[in-house]
Amino acid sequence: MSDPWWRGAAIYQLYIRSFADSGGDGIGDLAGMRARLGYLRDIGADAVWVNPWYVSPMVDGGYDVADYRDIDPVFGTLADAEDYIREAHRHRLRVIVDMVPNHCSSSHPWFRAALAAGPGSAERARFIFRPGKGTNGELPPNDWVSGFGGPAWTRVTEVDSRPGEWYLHLFAAEQPDFNWENPEVRSEFHDILRFWLDRDVDGFRVDAADTLVKDPALPDMADLPAGAPSPQRGQAASHEVFRGWRRILAAYPGDRVLIGEIWLDLHDRAAYHAPDELHTSFSFDLIRHPWSAPAMRQVIDATLKSATTTGAPPTWLLGNHDVTRVVTRYGRGDTRLVPDVQAADIPTDHALGTRRARAAALLTLALPGSVCIYQGDELGLWEVENIPADRLQDPVWEASGHADRGRDGCRVPMPWSGAAAPFGFSPDGAAAEPWLPQPAAWRDLTVAAQDSDPASTLSLYRDALRIRAEAGLGGGPMTWLQTERGALAFSRPGGLACAVNLSGHPEKLTALARHREVLLASAPLEGSPDDGRLLPPDTAVWLRTV
Ligand code: NOJ
Repeated sequence: MSDPWWRGAAIYQLYIRSFADSGGDGIGDLAGMRARLGYLRDIGADAVWVNPWYVSPMVDGGYDVADYRDIDPVFGTLADAEDYIREAHRHRLRVIVDMVPNHCSSSHPWFRAALAAGPGSAERARFIFRPGKGTNGELPPNDWVSGFGGPAWTRVTEVDSRPGEWYLHLFAAEQPDFNWENPEVRSEFHDILRFWLDRDVDGFRVDAADTLVKDPALPDMADLPAGAPSPQRGQAASHEVFRGWRRILAAYPGDRVLIGEIWLDLHDRAAYHAPDELHTSFSFDLIRHPWSAPAMRQVIDATLKSATTTGAPPTWLLGNHDVTRVVTRYGRGDTRLVPDVQAADIPTDHALGTRRARAAALLTLALPGSVCIYQGDELGLWEVENIPADRLQDPVWEASGHADRGRDGCRVPMPWSGAAAPFGFSPDGAAAEPWLPQPAAWRDLTVAAQDSDPASTLSLYRDALRIRAEAGLGGGPMTWLQTERGALAFSRPGGLACAVNLSGHPEKLTALARHREVLLASAPLEGSPDDGRLLPPDTAVWLRTV
């Protein structure tokens, strides 16, 4: 039997709001996505993960879900989504939808009912309501802070107009956390999973998968001993949740996948990879480590070792809709991901960042496992760091008291064609501007501009994904080749090797890997075939070794 597809897939992360706007309202939609299915197929994607498309007030880009069984009208209808899934399958693309189980929207009927029903009710027991501390309950139940800034508790006004209980929200106040100790919550999500599996989705990306269950004592952070595990994450009872989900997926034909979004360290993340829990989770570690050979090698080794132990393949990535674009990160002095609040004034060299991002693409696409490509990274888009404050949409901006500009800079709509905004994102003569402004300089990065240029980043991704598929690089072992400290080289089955130069000086190619042919290079090589080709700094190559 062949391996399930998700063990070595190329997954395209599609941020629906910014992909393609068919209606001209400046917001991407399902019809736009459908019209561009050929683009994804043409790049060489095996699957598409679509960010939340459900009915939502869009306080947090759709991660505040008001109805898990319907599509937000700004994106289309449920029939459009069904149509998209069918059409994607016709294009031989699997469809992964985003599942958001930690919290819903404060507009969700369950939360409205909880507010109306009052303290002690069965409706409130679906969420985490507590009386406040202090003489009149005026202080939050504990000292937890929301991931977006500010307290993780909001006090409600009861139906008699008095200030009442507090509810927990690990994210925005408009995103109340569910109480996963409550069987009603568990069975509701079983039903939601079946709803989408019945519509033939191939899997789920599980949002904030490690935070569903909290320590029931809700202890103050300040009281925890140093190094104590977080009471908000990784609780033992959350594993039982995913065992239930896995059984539901297993009852459907074909290979369906659960991919966890878990920002824990590798060891704690691996705990979710038991054979009967999540199939895989995102390997965020490349993002968190600097562009340096020893750091990359250590991350790759640790990730592959963990994959061997748990049997869950890695799902590599260089970016997503929550982090600074890879071109920008790698164009900075410190190439690790830093919180945006610190990033505001860091000088960035886009040319250097692009060069490294291209090399990093060849590195990650050569590794065994699945890989997730964030929309626009295949074009080399950079973080848009100068969005005017009055256009910012991410709740982080307000919740941080304007200290952190948030994540809008990596969510700017795709440039498809043309010499000026909206760059084909919206139809010609559209009534509205794109929901976030696109930089004028993106005219050189449009799909149309890169399409037939063999040296473009788009062509590099396409070529790499084609070779990756032909050579079956998603599976099989990798073996490190001996190199100088600043370089990495490894061989893959089928006579392929990848070499990356992360040092500040050129490296002799033959010294990195014996080879017959250079298949793909992220930048032109130096030197001549006679004197020996040189791999310049911040460059990667794929080599044919036999
Ligand atoms: C992770 C999502 O990727 C992010 O965009 C969202 O804000 C939080 N989870 C809360 O749902």
